[in-house]
Amino acid sequence: MSILFQKKTKTFHLFNQEISYIMTVLPNGHLGQLYFGRKIHYKEDFSYLFEQVCRAMTACVFDDNNGFSLEHTRQEYGVYGTTDFRHPAVSVLQENGSTLSDFVYESHQIEKGKPKLPGLPATYTESEEEAETLTVTLKDALTGIVLELFYTIFAEGGIIARSARLRNEGRTNVRLTRVMSLCLDLPDSDYEWLQFSGAWARERHLKVRKLEQGIQAVDSIRGNSSHDQNPFIVLKRPTADEDQGEVMGFSLVYSGNFLAQAQVDTQDTTRVLLGIHPFGFGWKLEPGESFQTPEAVVVYSHKGLGDMSRTFHRLYRSRLARGYWRDRERPILNNNWEATYFDFTEERLVEIAKKAKECGVELFVLDDGWFGARRNDHAGLGDWIPNEDCLPEGIVGLAEKIEDLGMKFGLWFEPEMVNPDSDLYRAHPDWILQTPGRHASLGRYQYVLDFSRQEVVDCIYGMMAKILSEAKVSYIKWDMNRSITECYSGALPADRQGEVFHRYILGVYSLYERLTSEFPHVLFESCASGGGRFDPGLLYYAPQGWASDDSDAVERLKIQYGTSFCYPLSSIGSHVSVTPNHQVYRNTPLHTRANTAYFGTFGYELDLNKLTDEELCQVKEQVAFMKQYRSLIQFGDFYRLSSPFEKNVTAWMAVSEDKSLAVVGWYRVLNGANMPLERLRLKGLDENRSYWVMEDGQEKKGLYYGDELMYAGLITSDAATADGDPKKACCGDFDSRIFILKA
Ligand code: DGJ
Repeated sequence: MSILFQKKTKTFHLFNQEISYIMTVLPNGHLGQLYFGRKIHYKEDFSYLFEQVCRAMTACVFDDNNGFSLEHTRQEYGVYGTTDFRHPAVSVLQENGSTLSDFVYESHQIEKGKPKLPGLPATYTESEEEAETLTVTLKDALTGIVLELFYTIFAEGGIIARSARLRNEGRTNVRLTRVMSLCLDLPDSDYEWLQFSGAWARERHLKVRKLEQGIQAVDSIRGNSSHDQNPFIVLKRPTADEDQGEVMGFSLVYSGNFLAQAQVDTQDTTRVLLGIHPFGFGWKLEPGESFQTPEAVVVYSHKGLGDMSRTFHRLYRSRLARGYWRDRERPILNNNWEATYFDFTEERLVEIAKKAKECGVELFVLDDGWFGARRNDHAGLGDWIPNEDCLPEGIVGLAEKIEDLGMKFGLWFEPEMVNPDSDLYRAHPDWILQTPGRHASLGRYQYVLDFSRQEVVDCIYGMMAKILSEAKVSYIKWDMNRSITECYSGALPADRQGEVFHRYILGVYSLYERLTSEFPHVLFESCASGGGRFDPGLLYYAPQGWASDDSDAVERLKIQYGTSFCYPLSSIGSHVSVTPNHQVYRNTPLHTRANTAYFGTFGYELDLNKLTDEELCQVKEQVAFMKQYRSLIQFGDFYRLSSPFEKNVTAWMAVSEDKSLAVVGWYRVLNGANMPLERLRLKGLDENRSYWVMEDGQEKKGLYYGDELMYAGLITSDAATADGDPKKACCGDFDSRIFILKA
């Protein structure tokens, strides 16, 4: 990996074994984009890639050079209003009302490693050899605004991490109304656009469409990254698929309002923008102040979507997630939420935990309802003091009892929220986000605390830290159950209200930072009504996230499949729950629920006391299975084999780094009569090694070379094929199998 600067042509070339990223200083001093893609040779001069043609009838030109129009020039950080008519990367509102800027190259710096982003989550390095960072400094002479563009190239993988910082070195205030983390101009538009959209209980469903002239975008202006869209998009060549072809994934390391957009112009070039949503955003920058954007990560691969995902997985698993739990197998947990909801006593909880322990479960999690006056969701949020009616010995006592059983204890919080019926709200009604003179809307009977205010964050920190210091708590589920409305902070002046959404997220990050550094052994799991804030920003603090409130196995196939495009399996919270399922009322077999939940962090969301003896035996086997294979599943290489968005059969697999071991998950939604013969082509194996294949922990099915399994395929035909003899019947609809492959 290297970053080279060619003085004569003022050209930067960032490259590693996979990619080249080439930029140059344009004739007007702005930074231009020449190439991003598969690695090409280093040369002194790439100026031929800066193409200028005279479009006299259509283009406004920068000077008397008739070919040089910014509209037709690929740039690194475009500005609107001076011959470029595309949506810009940055907009700086000045005292005279103008928004024009003219960011001209001043200097640059190349350093080993990667500097931290103050107050923001970001990918990092552990040694200087892992990455190099280029900072290009540009300045708008008229206003004195300095723009720093950061580019980190990692030694491994086709990864570029980008961000921008604006510093006011002028003498007057300015207002930033748009500061994107990434602007990337691509020379054509022959791409398909992939987005991961949905709603509560059906998060991150894959949607694909062709890029067309005009703007296509996904976004959130809800205050959280949202169930509706994820801050992650992919551009792929129409012929690219899981295993081959050019793809680029764009991921924003941020948890609040975001915009991910691709604009295809008249000449079929594509501008990708990714960053904080400009809608409603306005940041006052006084002389001497700086604004740092969140980080955007781009992964390029010419080896298809699977390779792109595995690159994201490795990066996010080991150089975004941090701390004690980063490389550790995740504990198998039993959460009481769907088992009891609010209706529990200490006795009942201990009963559930005992059964879980008997089955080999390692962590018992007490969900919502243990604090203040919280006996339903109308009261208590904000009062993080154990409710003695249901927990006579408090959290300290309950945690002790769970520990005595030989399990770890985990606890639910929703730190950012308050119910109107709470002592906290009664004492500080002004601590919520609310617009003066306007109605404050409720969401799940709760208001959003103003986390842009230090004293609010401090107060919540105090209550949480007290419990964490007094009780043996090993895990925290950090929930967030509504979006932000009437966004306005009583602590900020009128001209800073456009900052509230971002300051709120900075407040959330600061509380996470304090708690994770003070209690480094506590495992944090993020959650927002399921997957409403499942994003890389939170992965920096919480190495796992509850992927969805929907724990139905069939629904989960789509949710987990979609999530896997960007996020590692070690981060995907997935549990077995009861049937009929509480979200879709579907009955799926216990083995299918577990077979789906294995491909994530694994756990149970039910009262195991309510299962039959036969089911309990299955649960014990499931827990034992997960303990045996979780390291492979959570830290191995993940391959998608068959998509639930296209087929009745979903399949995926995890392969160990040395390719000696693999686990394959196979899931058939509906059974059929007289079905075709079926084979599943596996991936990621060693062609030359032979593998014992075992089905569902049973006898060895056979010994096959890796090449046979990958190119001829694993036979998955079963009794559904041919004669339909009921004696041969497996389990009808919602069947699934797990195959283990041992070299
Ligand atoms: C929403 C979460 O996603 C659930 O798992 C549960 O924790 C509830 N909130 C509790 O209110």
